[in-house]
Amino acid sequence: MTVIRNTSAPTSWTPTSWRDHPIAQQPNWPDPAEHEAVLKEISRRPPLVFAGEIRTLRDRLADVCAGRSFLLQGGDCVETFDAFSADSIRDKLKVLLQMAIVLTYGSKTPVVKVGRIAGQFAKPRSSETETVDGVTLEAYRGPAANDLAFLPEARRPDPRRLLQVYEQSAATLNLVRAFTQGGFASLRQVHAWNREFIRDSPRGRDYEQVATGIDNALGFARACGMGVDQAAASQVEFFTSHDALFLGYEEALTRTDSLTGEYYNVSTHFPWIGERTRDPDGAHVQYFSGVGNPIGCKLGPGTTTDELDALVARLNPDNIPGRLTFIVRMGKDLIEANLPPLIRHARAKGHQVVWSCDPMHGNTFTASTGQKTRRWKDIMSEVRSFFAIHRQEGTHAGGVHIELTGEQVTECLGGAGNITESDLLTRYETACDPRLNNEQALELAFCLVGFLHA
Ligand code: PEP
Ligand code: CO
Repeated sequence: MTVIRNTSAPTSWTPTSWRDHPIAQQPNWPDPAEHEAVLKEISRRPPLVFAGEIRTLRDRLADVCAGRSFLLQGGDCVETFDAFSADSIRDKLKVLLQMAIVLTYGSKTPVVKVGRIAGQFAKPRSSETETVDGVTLEAYRGPAANDLAFLPEARRPDPRRLLQVYEQSAATLNLVRAFTQGGFASLRQVHAWNREFIRDSPRGRDYEQVATGIDNALGFARACGMGVDQAAASQVEFFTSHDALFLGYEEALTRTDSLTGEYYNVSTHFPWIGERTRDPDGAHVQYFSGVGNPIGCKLGPGTTTDELDALVARLNPDNIPGRLTFIVRMGKDLIEANLPPLIRHARAKGHQVVWSCDPMHGNTFTASTGQKTRRWKDIMSEVRSFFAIHRQEGTHAGGVHIELTGEQVTECLGGAGNITESDLLTRYETACDPRLNNEQALELAFCLVGFLHA
């Protein structure tokens, strides 16, 4: 077993040492003592995920790093307290399982499945405040801090929300575990994951063909007496992830693993560091340098090779494959020029990292109707470039990181269903960034198969 608690990490690391580093993107808690009291309460709660699961994910990501697997990470931009129901969790899982099946069947490559789920409640913002009609209030920072409504009381950060984040994460995880381990994710259920409103669409029909192909393959294997691994066919390995933004909460969910003595963040399997909080000398990088989880780190278009080296030095000094995933989010116009130098540099230095593509966050704009949106064709353009660049460089396009939902929302333009600007008003439900709907997400999976084959 590889132990991460880095031999080369500064011995001064503790779960609280991030507090001595500059920190960005935290709520202005009106009563810091109340915030600390809540954190103390959370620190007494049971872990949400377990060290053994986290190590399993690290091994799976090491396979991605070696070019043997593909990482599929997706879910809401932000989970909310309002849209919390068994149905919405099930539908998000369904679409991720559908995408994973299409990818696995089409590319014959194992897919590591990770949700932006069970903890994705905090948002980094480009501005600290929001001004409407001359009134300035604290920006919406996600339900972990405040409420979206533009009212002074709603925008006032309330630390008790962190307790609700913990409770909702626990309940969500409980359902995710039941769905993925309890028969719902069985390969016998592949047809059932296709939702009614998708079934008669072109992509829904393509999916039915894949599902039928799987039925046939399983039936054939059984008839030939080849046997099908029952556990593999009836359960799915599924992991959680979130932007680990509010470090007080993350610190309160830091535990020592009794087996290895390593520290782990037990709020999620796969925490990531956002584009705005990845300062190599900042608090976020300091905190995550000391926990054994695999860590994601977003890289925007301005990332320099020096920054990349500094992040590797801080987050993966022992160069362990699977420990560090760079999630590239440069935008369709900048990726072609800005990603290749980073890949070449990392390769020359021998950095063992997973490269994943977030084609969402560099392609956002405001529609004439006022909503934040993204064009399907821009998203596809960035993904296409990401694959082409890796092919050119001889490196592995390791995965994708997508904002999506299981619902038939109308938040991103174009794609399957050809959503137009006037459609945006029909079902625009996200509390933050626009997500691919079920049909667009499935279409993306089919396109990815093409890219993986190319
Ligand atoms: C996000 O993933 O929702 C996000 C805010 O990303 P980034 O840090 O890349 O802007
Ligand atoms: Co987002």
